[in-house]
Order: sequence, then C-alpha cells, then structure tokens
Amino acid sequence: MPFLALTKKLMSKVAFYQTLNSQVAAIIAGEKDIIANMANVSALLFDQLEQVNWVGFYRAQSEQLVLGPFQGKVACIRIPFGAGVCGTAAKTATTQRIADVHQFDGHIACDATSNAEIVIPVFQNDVLVAILDVDSTQFERFDEQDQVGLEATVALLEASFEN
Ligand code: SME
Repeated sequence: MPFLALTKKLMSKVAFYQTLNSQVAAIIAGEKDIIANMANVSALLFDQLEQVNWVGFYRAQSEQLVLGPFQGKVACIRIPFGAGVCGTAAKTATTQRIADVHQFDGHIACDATSNAEIVIPVFQNDVLVAILDVDSTQFERFDEQDQVGLEATVALLEASFEN
C-alpha cells in the first residue's frame, strides 16, 4: 500500500478507537460492577467493530477461564489456563494477536467460521481476573492499531473496578 494511503488508514483507525474508547468511558462511568461493565463493553464492541463475529469475556477462576458476558454464538464454557488462544493469554498474562487461528497449536474452535482472534488479559489490582476475546472471520483482521485500541479499552475497564 502506498505510504500516504497507509498513513490515512492508520489515522482513521486511531480516530476510530479514540471515539470507541470515549464511548466505553461513558458507558462505564460511575459503575464498578465487573459483570455489568463487561456486558456493556462486549455489546458496544460487537456493535462497533467491523468484521467481528464474537466478542466477550472469560473470567479467571482457579486456573480456569469461565464464560462471561459476550455477544455472538454460543461458546465453550470452561477453558483451562494454557489451552487455546484464550488460555495462553491467561497463562502468560500477555495479549495474543493471531492472524490465522488455524495455525495456532491448540486453538479451540467455538465458532467454526472464526479465522483471526485477539485476546487481551484483564487485571484487577495486578491479579488476572478475566480476558477479552474478539474473533473475526477475516484472516489478519487485527493489526497493531487494533491491539493498541483494544488494550486501551481494557485499561478503561480495569480502572472502572480497581479498588
Ligand atoms: N477460540 C478461543 C476459544 C474461545 S471462543 O473463540 C469464544 C481459544 O482458542 O481460546
């Protein structure tokens, strides 16, 4: 892609996430309840993100991820730490941005149409409490700007229920 076109595309994505995250800040303002905020954030992301077929949270409980608020098709309920993309994000406490889930060893196919995925850990007072999972049918759907934007979303969520 020519440099100017690439710059324009990146800038529009930066602007998109600025708007999205100001909406996130507005819907969680003054509310500390984790489930309520996860529910509204998953609804907002599912509504606003393009080419996304599943958005939701798994909560961390005793080395397992348990299905939380989400939008999309029915999903697997429990994922052990270390299993699949979500379990890897939980075990390593790092974002997993996967261009092609079929190349990810141990990927758990909740929805057979998913081809790309990004999973971001969520912390409360430095303890892992959940992960945010976003799936897409489009290969390479999530680039670095999506990661930066969605990590900022998670940071807002974390700030809402700290302390
Ligand atoms: N694909 C995920 C499982 C969760 S669903 O996509 C909702 C994984 O490999 O961890």
